[in-house]
Amino acid sequence: MALTDFDLVLFGGSGDLSMRKLLPAMYARDVANDLPATARIICVGRAEASQEEFLHTVETTSKPLIKSPAVAPAAWARFTARIVYVSLNATDAATYAPLVDALRQDSAITRVYYLATPPAIFARICESLKENGLVTPNSRVVLEKPLGRDLASAKQINAEVGKVFEESQIYRIDHYLGKETVQNLLALRFGNILFEPLWRREWISDVQITIAEKLGVGNRMGYYDTSGALRDMLQNHLLQLLCIVAMEPPTSIAPDAVRDAKLQVLRSLKKFTPTTLAQNIVRGQYRAGHVDGKAVPSYRDEPDAPEHSRTETFVAMKAEIDTWRWAGVPFYLRTGKRMADSLAEIVVRFKQIPHSIFAQPTNSFQPNSLVIRLQPDEGLRMNLMAKTPGDGMRLKQAELELDFREQFKSPRMEAYERLLLDVLRGQLTLFMRGDELEAAWEWVEPILDHWESDDSYPVPYSAGTWGPAASSALISREGLQWREEALPED
Ligand code: BG6
Repeated sequence: MALTDFDLVLFGGSGDLSMRKLLPAMYARDVANDLPATARIICVGRAEASQEEFLHTVETTSKPLIKSPAVAPAAWARFTARIVYVSLNATDAATYAPLVDALRQDSAITRVYYLATPPAIFARICESLKENGLVTPNSRVVLEKPLGRDLASAKQINAEVGKVFEESQIYRIDHYLGKETVQNLLALRFGNILFEPLWRREWISDVQITIAEKLGVGNRMGYYDTSGALRDMLQNHLLQLLCIVAMEPPTSIAPDAVRDAKLQVLRSLKKFTPTTLAQNIVRGQYRAGHVDGKAVPSYRDEPDAPEHSRTETFVAMKAEIDTWRWAGVPFYLRTGKRMADSLAEIVVRFKQIPHSIFAQPTNSFQPNSLVIRLQPDEGLRMNLMAKTPGDGMRLKQAELELDFREQFKSPRMEAYERLLLDVLRGQLTLFMRGDELEAAWEWVEPILDHWESDDSYPVPYSAGTWGPAASSALISREGLQWREEALPED
């Protein structure tokens, strides 16, 4: 669907997200000829800077981050000609005149206000836009995470933004939903007949969802230490993945059909009590170690780290969904910084065969599993038992592999490219609705409260490992293993 003309306004326009992700994403779509000739990107920043100075910053900060194809001078010139820099104080409506002047006054032009700013000023920006008469029926607002830090703050954001924009104008970003494989999971589940009859407690033993990063917190300590892995990754990205795995078939791909189905999952998550929480959640914090053979410091020795920080950089948990489909099936969720590898994957493990007709005992059969890989390489792997060649009937695990890059040669899209296109098209399916956001916070809040009130520390783990030993113990309690621990050595 071709885009209609738009003014995309980036609040936080000179910030990290704009420079690292948003401008490169828009450039990629420009090169792909997706953007209307007169569409513009208005970058809003507080700093007094001329248009030339701002473009110089884009040239030196953003351009080097653009991946292939190599940036051609003509394409870059066409792209930068779309950029307009506007300086104002986002929290002061009286300073918005330059934005009023920059926006085109044509009701057919879509206006998108992208708030890549701290959430504390979302409400002020929305009010200021309203006060200046900048919110038209054809306007949309995009909210970047963190979308609150608990249920109360999330409700407040929803309520305040809701005073200015209709729910159908609000795009809450979770960039994991923009990843290719997440949509492929929808295709796998609802474009094939094969899995649906098996996608339930009768046939599935457990589900593991891991997002592991080799990176530490780098220069984001100011934000990260007040957040931690639970708020930064689990409340949003991991829960969204869990929803897509566990939701009932929606009646269509329409935004509310999908969001209703996800909401039902969030509301069916078994609530933790202080006792079940202590048994089923492990939080860790990295200590010095080696990642890719290089020595890396402890979290507490990272620049600007508080001396006795209790912030978790790792969390693993066993979650359960109280529905007929999923009762009793553990969903193991895990995320961490400074882990042994960088990967994001979902592993759906099926049950053991009931009886072996071969000479091998039943427990020598690896249960079937489906591995859905989001990154680094996008693909699906089905593990099956197969006969080894030669004489005799000896079965061994074999893999059916679908590598999306090999299979489909068409060019890839980064998550932000897809999500920005969806906002500009007015397509809400891959964005969270307000009630979903609140349901996710409601479920994690008892965990946050408990950690707050409890004076214990996260368990230490060495950088470059798969997290604390307690994480393996959590899953081995039920005779299971994290996938990397279960991989055969060969
Ligand atoms: C962000 C988190 O939402 O996701 C970061 O704030 C994290 O801490 C990042 O590094 C991971 O995203 P991706 O796409 O690189 O896996």
